[in-house]
Amino acid sequence: MRQPQHEPMTGAPDRVTIYEVGARDGLQNEKSIVPVEVKAQFVRRMLAAGLETVEITSFVSPRWVPQLADAADLVTALGADALGTQRPVLVPNERGLDRALDLGVSSVAIFGSATETFASRNLNSTVLDQFTMFEPVAKRAKDEGLWLRAYVSMCFGDPWEGDVPIDQVVDVCARMMDLGADQLSLGDTIGVATPGHVGRLLAALAERGIGADRVAVHFHDTYGQALANSLEAIRLGVRTIDASAGGLGGCPYAKSATGNLATEDLVWALHGMGVSTGVDLEALVATSVWMAEQLGRPSPSRVVKALSGG
Ligand code: HMG
Ligand code: MG
Repeated sequence: MRQPQHEPMTGAPDRVTIYEVGARDGLQNEKSIVPVEVKAQFVRRMLAAGLETVEITSFVSPRWVPQLADAADLVTALGADALGTQRPVLVPNERGLDRALDLGVSSVAIFGSATETFASRNLNSTVLDQFTMFEPVAKRAKDEGLWLRAYVSMCFGDPWEGDVPIDQVVDVCARMMDLGADQLSLGDTIGVATPGHVGRLLAALAERGIGADRVAVHFHDTYGQALANSLEAIRLGVRTIDASAGGLGGCPYAKSATGNLATEDLVWALHGMGVSTGVDLEALVATSVWMAEQLGRPSPSRVVKALSGG
């Protein structure tokens, strides 16, 4: 399979961590319910392709996200493959944390909103009340020695509220990090960010004491900007990039959200620039082609299309 020509880019880091969200962000948005065996095989194939950090699923209300109602079955089916600090799961509340802890999960993510409308639609909460919900989750997670990620959604724009002021985003990010999170993931839930905006937000976070070393970026690719935004974040010191195999994804509670940055598109760019990821591109493309067959529609990833002749 064709690989990008290696031409190291000045200033690029030796390595970037890909935080793979396809099994969670991708499959939470499918109209049909994907069988748990298919999900397990998807995760195993991604691990075999060299992805080290793989978000597995969400322990959320099955009424809210029926697509992931099988979270416990998936973790059980995966066994040791679902455990360890590099296999996070989403937990919104103590109920979710209890379910995850019962299964031996050791890495969890809480997920807040920078805007009122999305806090209401995604969590049935307000921006203020979400912290009350997350506080005991974060405290217990840290007491149990878990690794804790804090997502913040709508960091770059909201489908109902329009532009989101940077100060408002930074306030929510700071409150989430004050809960004791190890990493902050900046969610561009509807894929509207542009590179200058990324730089402005990272600078504002740094001013509040949240340096790029504790930040990950999570771009959906609705406007085709996700790769440019991710490369800009790397240039500015971010070393963890969220991506989704084959470009699966979206959010069931955010209108106009499409898939995440495709992992293959990111890997192509990084490998070309001489940045290692640990990913075997050929094996990952084969995985995404297989998953697209399971879902009955082609992957939106340009790199998957180009390399699979699709
Ligand atoms: P609520 O309806 O206010 O909560 O939802 P509730 O406490 O009234 O519970 C409703 C029902 O759910 C009850 O069951 C609870 O027991 C049950 P019933 O008595 O009616 O049968 N329940 C649970 N069951 C299992 N596990 C749980 C759980 N919690 C309650 N953890 C709640 C509030 C937060 C629960 C709900 O709004 C929820 O689950 N939201 C999650 C939505 C979601 O998963 N969205 C997608 C992830 S976020 C995302 O994609 C963005 C991201 O990718 C970044 C980006 O792109 O920006 C991360
Ligand atoms: Mg997302």
